[in-house]
Amino acid sequence: MADNNTVMVDERLGHIAFIMDGNGRWATKRMLPRTVGHKYGAENFKKIVKYCGKIGIKAVTVYAFSTENWGRPKNEVDTIMNLLSQYLDTCEEEMKIHGIKYKFLGDMSVFTPELREKIARVEEISKDNSLLLNVAINYGSRAEIVHAFNALAREGKKEITEKDVSDALYTAHCPDPDLIVRTGGDIRLSNFLLWQAQYSEFYFTDVLWPDLTTDNIDEIVREFYSRKRRYGKV
Ligand code: IPE
Ligand code: IPE
Ligand code: MG
Repeated sequence: MADNNTVMVDERLGHIAFIMDGNGRWATKRMLPRTVGHKYGAENFKKIVKYCGKIGIKAVTVYAFSTENWGRPKNEVDTIMNLLSQYLDTCEEEMKIHGIKYKFLGDMSVFTPELREKIARVEEISKDNSLLLNVAINYGSRAEIVHAFNALAREGKKEITEKDVSDALYTAHCPDPDLIVRTGGDIRLSNFLLWQAQYSEFYFTDVLWPDLTTDNIDEIVREFYSRKRRYGKV
């Protein structure tokens, strides 16, 4: 880490994951509809990802929409899907400026053909870039693990190793997260990266996602570097 105000990371913090929670409460606090919170949340997401790239993080994963989030009111789900579609339209430009390599984690089969096409295109055109951004949509960790086991069963595997499972998950292309950050004050994983979080560090903050600042990221990084990761050893 640099010792001036700018935090820089090294290989110890290669992969950071965010549970971007608190958009709804951010809006409600301002007497605005929850959907407005998602718009601000989406803007902040772009800012935070760029900042992570700037300080040297190689991979960012964000939890954008869970398998359980379909249970929300239709207008809220529709707003999030529209934001996703609009976001996909900006990816080509963003990717060129910031060198982002996009990957979408989750079961994409539920999305409209238009959305799936956009997703496939964005992944394809950005595949040679270096800042990996995993966007988890219609993602649930249990569904991911079951999906992996079924893929291994179809291959006819009689005995499976930990590596087989890791390689069959949506995250096969990247290392496990070093740090998982959840905004919004709740202290739980809500079905996010249950397998991959084996030895992740956790950081929970009451800050609501749309309010998370780059200064908060600096604080989070400093806190991460103050920890001793023992991996069961002494
Ligand atoms: C997180 O914010 C975004 C999604 C789950 C899509 P929330 O919408 O869960 O915001 P709160 O937790 O209700 O404030
Ligand atoms: C987790 O937030 C999912 C995302 C941030 C996409 P939720 O708001 O859905 O989680 P719970 O319901 O509080 O556990
Ligand atoms: Mg929430």
